[in-house]
Formats: sequence, C-alpha cells, structure tokens
Amino acid sequence: MKKQLFDKFAELFGDSDGAHFYFSPGRVNLIGEHTDYNGGHVFPCALTLGTYGAARKRDDRLIHFYSMNLNRFGVVEASLDDLTNKKEYNWANYPLGVVWAFAEKGYKPEHGFDMVIWGNIPNGSGLSSSASLEVLTGVILTDLFGIDSLTMTDLALIGQYSENNFNGCNCGIMDQFAVAMGKKDNAIFLDTNTMNFEYAPIALDDAKIIITNSKVKHSLVDSAYNDRRQECSDALAALKTELDINALGDLTPEEFDAHSSLIQDPVQYKRAKHAVYENQRTIEAVDALKKGDIAQFGKLMNQSHISLRDDYEVSCEEIDILVDLAWKIPGVIGSRITGGGFGGCTVSIVKNDAVDTFIESIGRAYKEKVGHEAEFYTVDIGDGASRIEG
Ligand code: GLA
Repeated sequence: MKKQLFDKFAELFGDSDGAHFYFSPGRVNLIGEHTDYNGGHVFPCALTLGTYGAARKRDDRLIHFYSMNLNRFGVVEASLDDLTNKKEYNWANYPLGVVWAFAEKGYKPEHGFDMVIWGNIPNGSGLSSSASLEVLTGVILTDLFGIDSLTMTDLALIGQYSENNFNGCNCGIMDQFAVAMGKKDNAIFLDTNTMNFEYAPIALDDAKIIITNSKVKHSLVDSAYNDRRQECSDALAALKTELDINALGDLTPEEFDAHSSLIQDPVQYKRAKHAVYENQRTIEAVDALKKGDIAQFGKLMNQSHISLRDDYEVSCEEIDILVDLAWKIPGVIGSRITGGGFGGCTVSIVKNDAVDTFIESIGRAYKEKVGHEAEFYTVDIGDGASRIEG
C-alpha cells in the first residue's frame, strides 16, 4: 500500500521526499456496548483493517487532505488560520477536527502539512473508520511536529474531543482508545470510569471471530445515538436523587433493581437497565474468557444482543435477521450486534468447522430476505496506530 500512497502523494504534491508512512486500525467490540459513556466497561480489539496515511510537513500554513477512497472530493484545502468545520470539506472534517483539537489543547502546529490516505474499513459499517482517521491524524501531527508529550491515550482523548466538539457526535472513548491502544491478538478490557485497562489475549484454538456486515446504515444514527446518551443521563439524574453515584456503571444490577423505581420514565428505565446489566455482562465475559469458558462468553454475547435489541433499541431488522440466522447454526458460540447500531455489523464467535456453513447459509438466507448480499470478514486482531518505518 505504501507505494500506491506515495505515488499518489508525489502526483499531487510534486514528490514524496521526506514523507512518512502511517497506519491506524479499525476496531470491533466483542462485548460492552453503549457502556463507555456510562462509566462502564468495554472489550474491543483493533483490527488489521484500517487507514493508511502518507504525510509531510509544509513550509506555509496550508493543510491538504486527499482520500484515495473518495477521489471525487479532490484535494481538500484548509488553513491553520481557519480551523472551522465546513460542509464542503466533507470527510476531511475528521482530520481537520483533530488539528483543531490539538490547537484547543495548546498544541497548534506552526506549519501546515499534506496528507494522503487510503483505507479498507468498509464505510458506515460501524467498525470505526472515523476513529481510525482521527487517531491516524493525531499520530501524524505528533510525529511531524515533534510533540512527544502526548501519550497514545491522550491521542484517543483528543480524537474523541474532536468528534464530540467539531463533528457533533457525542461518542464515548471506546473507539479511539481501541484504535490507539490496540495490541495484536489481544482485546482491551477498559474501565471507562477510571481509564484503567488490561489486555486480554484472545487465543481461540478451535474458533474464529467473524464480522458480518449487513451493509445497511440507517439515517439519523448520530441523533439517535445522542438521544440514547441523553436518556441515560436523565435516568442517572433520577437515581442520584437518592444514590451517591457518578455514573450508571457504578451500580451492580442488584443495586439498580433496588432503586430503579426512582426512574419514572419507562424508556429511560430500559436504557439504564441495559447500561447497568451490559456492564456486568462485560465483567463476567472477560472473567469467563480468562477461565477458558468460551461457551459462557458466547452466552453473554447473545444476552447483550437481546438487551441492545429490546431495551436499548439500537438494532434493526437486517441485523436481527443476521443474528437470528447465526443463533440457529450449530457451532456458533455467540453472536450480537457490534458498535453504535442502527445497521453496521454483527460479531460472532464460530467454531472452525462451522465457519464455511456460517458464511454460506447466512449469506444465502440474508440475500433472500433482505435483497442484497452481506459481507464476511474473519477477524485478525492487530496493533494500534503508529508510524511505519521503512
Ligand atoms: C459508537 C461510539 C462508541 C460507543 C459505541 C457503542 O461506536 O463511538 O463510543 O458508544 O458506539 O458501544
């Protein structure tokens, strides 16, 4: 990929002398959905799919972005003197948002830069192409401008800050954290309340993790996401009238059940119930994994799906079809929606000898029911974002 990116870079900017090469992954979350903005736990891993970038410092104050996936936008030009979100920048509002966030945090670059990207995360699939691009930009800025006081966790937080405040999605920290801190063959067990985390090796001898892309993305995802967040925060406010807590993630299911009558609104109650129980499921799932009890991990994944479908209401018909089909196949250990929801992907753990049947039979039945093909990817867990030498 380096050659194609550098050739394009040279074509657009004269030559590629002194440009550097970078990679930032996408992510898939195994369990712990919609818990990250509720002070709960998540369990994502970085993919080997991701976003590649070539970048070089400029002498002036201009910033140029070019995506080889979105040629039709051409070179998007912005300036360090006007770091504002503009509709015509389209996709480039993501990297520009990170430049803006660097400036907000006191790390405004003195010079502009040129950046060419190409990625293989399917668009709108819920595998975090935006977080991948944000953290990629963070890594590029720290590298080009010699900013060594920012850690990878800082870059994750800056990416989230830019998405929240420059691009209008009130997302939690999970995606950027997974992309920044990913580790080959490991998932990350992150407590979003304390930001403490540990790596958990994913060594499945006789099974694979399969992502199934429904290839649907329903509109209003961001606003529905922000609504969920608001409903959780309203539920928390109701609980706080009697409980001394900071987040829904502070409660065990038992504590929640004992006080849930404080939440008058039935929708807010369902949202909060999901957040509390999903957090507990995530803790239990990691525990099961550590004990080698993959069957229990799978059961918790299935319960997670049911809760996301019925209580959090972020699934959709196409995703439920995929999950229902998966649950019927012997050899499927667990299957659930992954990511923000309203379309996107499912994640399943499938015994090796059932993988072919899984892909074939779900592929056929999904096409019959929905009218278009699903896509399947076998997960390889990769490292977090970095400059690639050589
Ligand atoms: C999106 C957000 C994350 C997280 C998930 C749901 O991916 O960006 O912060 O909230 O949805 O778990």
